[in-house]
Amino acid sequence: MKSSDLFKEAMEIFPMGVNSPVRYYSPEPVMFQQARGSRAINVNGKEYIDYSMGFGPMILGHANPEVGMKIKEQVDRGILFGSLTENEIKLGKIIKNAVKSIDMLRFTNSGTEATMHAIRVARGFTGKKYILKMEGGYHGAHDYALIKSGSGTMTFGVPSSSGVPAEVSRTVLVGQYNDTESIEKLFREYGNDIAAVITEPVLGNIGVVNPEKDFLKSLREITEKYSSLLIFDEVITGFRFAFSGYQDIIGIKPDITTMGKIIGGGAPVGMFGGRKDIMEKIAPAGNVYEAGTFSGNPLTMAAGIATLDILKAKDYSQINGYAARLEKELNSMVSEYGINAVVNRCYSMFQIFFNKKNVTDYSTATRSDTAKFNKMFHGLLERGIFFPPSQFETEFISFAHDENDFRATVDAMSAVLKCL
Ligand SMILES: Cc1ncc(COP(=O)(O)O)c(C=O)c1O
Repeated sequence: MKSSDLFKEAMEIFPMGVNSPVRYYSPEPVMFQQARGSRAINVNGKEYIDYSMGFGPMILGHANPEVGMKIKEQVDRGILFGSLTENEIKLGKIIKNAVKSIDMLRFTNSGTEATMHAIRVARGFTGKKYILKMEGGYHGAHDYALIKSGSGTMTFGVPSSSGVPAEVSRTVLVGQYNDTESIEKLFREYGNDIAAVITEPVLGNIGVVNPEKDFLKSLREITEKYSSLLIFDEVITGFRFAFSGYQDIIGIKPDITTMGKIIGGGAPVGMFGGRKDIMEKIAPAGNVYEAGTFSGNPLTMAAGIATLDILKAKDYSQINGYAARLEKELNSMVSEYGINAVVNRCYSMFQIFFNKKNVTDYSTATRSDTAKFNKMFHGLLERGIFFPPSQFETEFISFAHDENDFRATVDAMSAVLKCL
């Protein structure tokens, strides 16, 4: 059956044919049947150089044989026990040893679960009600996180999804990323009742937005001053730029960290961890409830250990350098063709924004020309390059991307950008 027929079937079964909204795009999403290294092949047999890499986790490339072997070995030993296993301890230790701020942790099945539990434990530990998140920060699809700023941006959030009670959104304050004054203002008003500030250290869900100098440091200082907790959501950035968290690169210690994506090697995963005194509040030792039938899943643990074992020996300058060279090429195309666009990059993540101005936060990101991005996306697709299908996602480089991929990508980008 060809892709279009399959998609018609999918539309009968899943809302808009997909199991996660950003996977849908007009006229129909590419349907992949297999992938290896940097390349993914659709059901019609067309090959693409993949820059989505499963939205980040596949940092080693697709179908890494050693990771696959470890998963297969675990399949033969059993795939679910509902009791503690040695591999949970192994993967937990790898993460704890790599990320300085983590004394103890719990595995979950997704980044969404990780941030949901992290927020609950922050509230349980501090006994405070409010959470402060950043406009444009994404922490998964649960009610505490689907909150955007209200009309006066300096007040409580409002639901960004229907179905989220206004009562919940009134417990979430929304600040502006890279705007310390907006955070200080909220703390001046509500500081004694703010349980935690949660932020992605590098925004990765409105394209890539880097922290400005001292912004994250000021979050650390303000939260300490008010006895609030600082949560770094490193679901994307954990093990992405180095064998650690972004926090270790910049030398800031959050109280709680969430991770996902890479630590599961492509299998469903999440993790939250941090200070021992906070993590000890979790049941059964403490009175903050958190649980999951599949948490610490044996297949995920096997994939995660295999991935991090390989990653530990890798030289991250390979993927960071690839992205830096691509950024340079893109910048020269932008100026040569006279396009209103800026390229944002953080190590091995990048995004091209069709925007006249620098993109530093939610409001500048959302002023980008998404129609242009869509044109570029489809132009690249035709030429066998698969970018994540939204201006507000991020391209990821993997260790499988090579010089052939680089040249083919530069040629395709040049042809597409020239026509914009
Ligand atoms: C920063 C961040 N936090 C949380 C999540 C949610 O993770 P998951 O999709 O595994 O639930 C995501 C997903 O992209 C994310 O980028």
